[in-house]
Amino acid sequence: MANEAAQINDGDVFSIKITEPYDSNYETMVGIAQRDQNENKHFDFLNDIENFDEYNVVYIGMPVWWGKLPQPMVSFFEKYDFSGKTIVPFGIHLGSHFGSMVEQIKELEPNAEIKDGFTVSADVDNEKVKADFSAYIRNLQ
Ligand SMILES: Cc1cc2nc3c(=O)[nH]c(=O)nc-3n(C[C@H](O)[C@H](O)[C@H](O)COP(=O)(O)O)c2cc1C
Repeated sequence: MANEAAQINDGDVFSIKITEPYDSNYETMVGIAQRDQNENKHFDFLNDIENFDEYNVVYIGMPVWWGKLPQPMVSFFEKYDFSGKTIVPFGIHLGSHFGSMVEQIKELEPNAEIKDGFTVSADVDNEKVKADFSAYIRNLQ
């Protein structure tokens, strides 16, 4: 989805990577993720966005975790100030759609314009995701 957004907008792709490895077991991860949210855990990142000031519209993709932002994304929004920029959230879910993620982003980035965004169930066929997401992107322009 990030590649699709980058291609249509002639943009760059940045992969958000945390310093701490996460558990690859889904069930274990579900518990860890909830604990991290409850503790409002802080995460550090392996990489920095170069020339952050030069970007005006930023598509940000993430899964919904426990109806909310994955906790590393809270740290990401605390690290970068999106004032004056437009954020287009996109993501995948298994029933919760965005949950309260978009409201959380609005609280963390009060001076950004935040679009409604696009989220899709993780079990939808890739070709359909591509078609629907590209239609959403073109409609924004
Ligand atoms: C820690 C964790 C919490 C999740 N919480 C939710 C949730 O609240 N609602 C939902 O629809 N899906 C939830 N999911 C499912 C993810 O949205 C789903 O795993 C994701 O869309 C697929 O990406 P993945 O392959 O990276 O897991 C959760 C997944 C994980 C790992």
